[in-house]
Amino acid sequence: MYSAIHLVQRGKNRAGLTMLTGFVNSFSSVSRPERLAGKVAVITGGASGIGEATAKEFIRNGAKVIIADVQDDLGHTVAAELGPGSAYTRCDVTDEAQIAATVDLAVARHGHLDILYNNAGITSSSVGHLASLDLADFDRVMAVNARAVLAGIKHAARVMAPRRTGSILCTASVAGMMGGEMPHAYNVSKAAVIGVVRSAAGELARHGVRLNAISPLGIATPLAMRGFGDMLAWADAERVRRLIEEDMNELEGATLEAEDIARAAVYLASDEAKYVTGHNLVVDGGFTVGKRLNVAHA
Ligand SMILES: NC(=O)c1ccc[n+]([C@@H]2O[C@H](COP(=O)([O-])OP(=O)(O)OC[C@H]3O[C@@H](n4cnc5c(N)ncnc54)[C@H](O)[C@@H]3O)[C@@H](O)[C@H]2O)c1
Repeated sequence: MYSAIHLVQRGKNRAGLTMLTGFVNSFSSVSRPERLAGKVAVITGGASGIGEATAKEFIRNGAKVIIADVQDDLGHTVAAELGPGSAYTRCDVTDEAQIAATVDLAVARHGHLDILYNNAGITSSSVGHLASLDLADFDRVMAVNARAVLAGIKHAARVMAPRRTGSILCTASVAGMMGGEMPHAYNVSKAAVIGVVRSAAGELARHGVRLNAISPLGIATPLAMRGFGDMLAWADAERVRRLIEEDMNELEGATLEAEDIARAAVYLASDEAKYVTGHNLVVDGGFTVGKRLNVAHA
């Protein structure tokens, strides 16, 4: 560094400038390294919201990404936007065979699978009290949010364990930690995700595979807008968005965004987290250690 600046100062010549520019460029690449270089990832629910933001962040960090979703048009569009490192495949996570096929597709296309992000999710439309709980809705929510997570772990581990390496992530939620205001089916499904991670992480650790959950607070994605909108029948879309982005927020000066979850996922997926497993990384700005959601006011 000294010699490059010295050269510029003394001669103001092109060689010195080139060296200095090279130094500055190398510094910026050191500060933004590709933390997932060479890794291959599958992201379920990758066509929208948190999954889409994570796909972008993974690509930016050097990973190859397969987006697995049921929104075909959106999935193809997102994959095209992300460029040649990304591809879309249809995968309904309620069907174990489709999860198995998606894992196998990643291996066939890239030779291995390093990261599975079990992120696909739905809300419950049974928003009333226990007395009116719709158990068919409960089964539907559990199939996507909980059973599919277990199936994803099963099939990712099938190809990761023989290589003694891999990182599996699962989107849980603060709803799975607290209960309370969200529909019972959603709360239970997210508590199950945290439970599955606890249950399976020890076994997978003995095969070199890490397994972690991420629990976000509210982000105004299509899922959350629908979920909170169903609960707050009196509120228009703008009011629902404000409830999610402002009323629930405990952290002064910050708003939770899908990109914040994406960055948490990059950390857990990367070798920087090589000794972190069985963890539930809560990204909630202090909500679960602060106050509860008060939906009584308009
Ligand atoms: N947004 C929030 O406030 C919030 C908070 C905590 C946790 N989460 C969780 O984050 C995850 C991502 O949700 P989001 O908020 O980004 O919503 P989103 O609606 O933007 O994305 C959810 C994605 O999952 C896909 N999906 C739904 N059913 C599927 C199926 N059977 N097979 C494959 N894909 C399917 C959808 O097509 C969609 O692309 C979910 O698990 C959700 O429960 C969201």
